[in-house]
Amino acid sequence: MSSNKTVDKYNLLDRIEEGLEAIGKTPANVTIEDLAPVDEFHVGGLDVVKPLVRHLQVGTGGAVVDLGSGSGGPARFIARETGAHVQGIDLSPEVVETGNELSKWMGFSDQVGLDVGDACATPYETAKFDAAISIHVHMFLEEPQKLYDEAFRLLRSGGRFVVFDPVVRTKEGFAYPVPWAADAATDNICDEGTLKAMAVAAGFNFAQCIDCNDIALQWFEEVFQRAIDAGGLPPLGPHLVAGPDFPLLAMNAYANLQGGQISMLQFVFTKP
Ligand SMILES: C[S@@+](CC[C@H](N)C(=O)[O-])C[C@H]1O[C@@H](n2cnc3c(N)ncnc32)[C@H](O)[C@@H]1O
Repeated sequence: MSSNKTVDKYNLLDRIEEGLEAIGKTPANVTIEDLAPVDEFHVGGLDVVKPLVRHLQVGTGGAVVDLGSGSGGPARFIARETGAHVQGIDLSPEVVETGNELSKWMGFSDQVGLDVGDACATPYETAKFDAAISIHVHMFLEEPQKLYDEAFRLLRSGGRFVVFDPVVRTKEGFAYPVPWAADAATDNICDEGTLKAMAVAAGFNFAQCIDCNDIALQWFEEVFQRAIDAGGLPPLGPHLVAGPDFPLLAMNAYANLQGGQISMLQFVFTKP
């Protein structure tokens, strides 16, 4: 465990370090793959970020912004796979502080930076980035159009915006609570057409939409299997971020995916 932190010993970074110890790893030898169960804080884990990286079309020297980056799992993976610099921004100081420490552990501090801030109103220069991503953020926003407008502002002409999100198909039989909302009254999840329309309203061209339902279903089943194998919550998992209610939230999201209430879609948009 870290000895020089002033924050609560049960903060996110300490929970991750405890989990690492339990799997026989340390900050000195941990890998991106080891941490994926906790720092890829979205359905599908690395299996959805791998295809996403190809849609970004960036390489060494490129610049990517991750809007609502969490603790930076996707950002570090993109940095490693492409050689690009990745700038993340997230509202939560705890996940940002944790994520920057994880980047230090794995030698990504020069290539990945995480800032605390609003993804809908970032401090970054206009047209600074070659690509943008946003994973599982729009459902938390009362005005998700602002996220699309900001992505458009931040990209250079020709830049790509890749979004991976759940979309609602029907509210009939929708199980709550889910990871992004306690109930229907607080749920901002959009349907596929609305997400596309927001991107177009921001100025983007629609390029592609990829159905990730099969990857997502398999990921849920693997998460549940890991809990069965561990006889409870495993050392590293989304519950370290989401808290002890995670199993219920995940079961409901899985039920909604299986029941056709939601789909998991990856959208690719381009800035003309
Ligand atoms: C489900 S997590 C996804 C994190 C990350 N994209 C990933 O896939 O690992 C959603 C994140 O969105 C962040 N968030 C919500 N509203 C935001 C906003 N207005 N600006 C920046 N981040 C926001 C939350 O703090 C949270 O870390």
